[in-house]
Amino acid sequence: MSVLLTGGLGYIGSHTAVELLAAGREIVIADNLSNSELSVASYIERISGKSFGFYELDVCERAALARVFKENDIDAVIHFAGFKAVGESCEKPLAYYRNNIDSALSVLELMRENCCRNFVFSSSATVYGAGSLPLSEESAAGPCANPYGRTKYMIEQIVNDAAAADGDFSAVLLRYFNPVGAHGSGLIGEKPKGVPNNLMPYITQVAAGRLDHLRIFGDDYDTHDGTGVRDFIHVADLAKGHIAALDYAREHKGSEVFNLGTGRGVSVLELIRAFEEVNGIRIPFEIAPRRPGDAAASYASAVKARELLGWQAELDIKAMCRDAWNYEKRRI
Ligand code: NAD
Ligand code: UFG
Repeated sequence: MSVLLTGGLGYIGSHTAVELLAAGREIVIADNLSNSELSVASYIERISGKSFGFYELDVCERAALARVFKENDIDAVIHFAGFKAVGESCEKPLAYYRNNIDSALSVLELMRENCCRNFVFSSSATVYGAGSLPLSEESAAGPCANPYGRTKYMIEQIVNDAAAADGDFSAVLLRYFNPVGAHGSGLIGEKPKGVPNNLMPYITQVAAGRLDHLRIFGDDYDTHDGTGVRDFIHVADLAKGHIAALDYAREHKGSEVFNLGTGRGVSVLELIRAFEEVNGIRIPFEIAPRRPGDAAASYASAVKARELLGWQAELDIKAMCRDAWNYEKRRI
């Protein structure tokens, strides 16, 4: 029995692959390398000391994906594949709807045809509207601020409908908060193409001297130091959450949503200070205007995942900053 990881060579998928292999699970990865590199496959094997099947294919192409089901005994799918850049989704909304919705439909249809009924989906905290904090799974979802978020929200609805129509189907929708950091080996991590949009990769690239300084988008929010507050979660913790989600899917029917966050809000300024302290590197910054669409604060209620999945994040902000830099500095 194998778990299929679509998009498994990407940032979160590769860390989840390592955790699954470490837990003795068999995996198969399907990825079209649109936002990853083949070398990641060999790093996963090097870290885990185990091998796995890899298919370079577009998950939207049903015939190609059908081959993966035919050639492997797949009993569960973790669907990571998709486009994820918020800004780009506003410039190319159709590409986002096409890739994200099509890939999800393709996976769900092939699962049904192959009697594979355990599904875990990479959703996002971005589906929450401006609810009160902490954001719990009961908080209202939508309206989403951008096409990327809308694709995630739509896929959640599609999965709920698929589960309602098939009493044997199990789905776990994981709403990730802000994944950061890298594997302790420094071999795999987040490697954005071009200038990073997200805070931690921007900080590491300033630290590496590739970028001159950081711009903090707003210091006049209604937060304790005026900068934005987020629930940063170490990607290794997030990866372990997928194993708990898989086990939950195998034991329960229907569709269930879980936040994967730490439950703690950390400000942009606090993250910068932690990075400087842990790594002994100064991060020059300037205060810039607020970034359109940003919430002042967002952090999870982590209670449901703790109680029903038996999972909680363990690594702190210092570990996130240390491991993010450990990955980046190997690439200088
Ligand atoms: P990533 O871009 O690093 O990984 C996605 C992988 O999917 C890449 O390897 C890419 O090549 C592949 N891919 C994309 N479209 C494909 C297709 N049609 N067929 C086959 N492969 C395809 O992204 P990530 O950070 O690892 O995120 C994984 C998932 O989690 C995504 O769905 C993303 O939207 C979601 N998510 C990410 C974050 C975050 O901050 N990183 C937050 C919330 C949700
Ligand atoms: N920030 C800066 N300067 C930068 C980049 C970011 O000050 O150069 C600030 C932002 O204004 C925000 C905070 O840092 O206050 C975090 O911003 P990120 O771009 O790192 O993350 P977001 O919370 O905006 O969004 C991320 C992903 C989304 C995902 C969401 C929740 O980009 O795709 O987390 O998981 F949906």
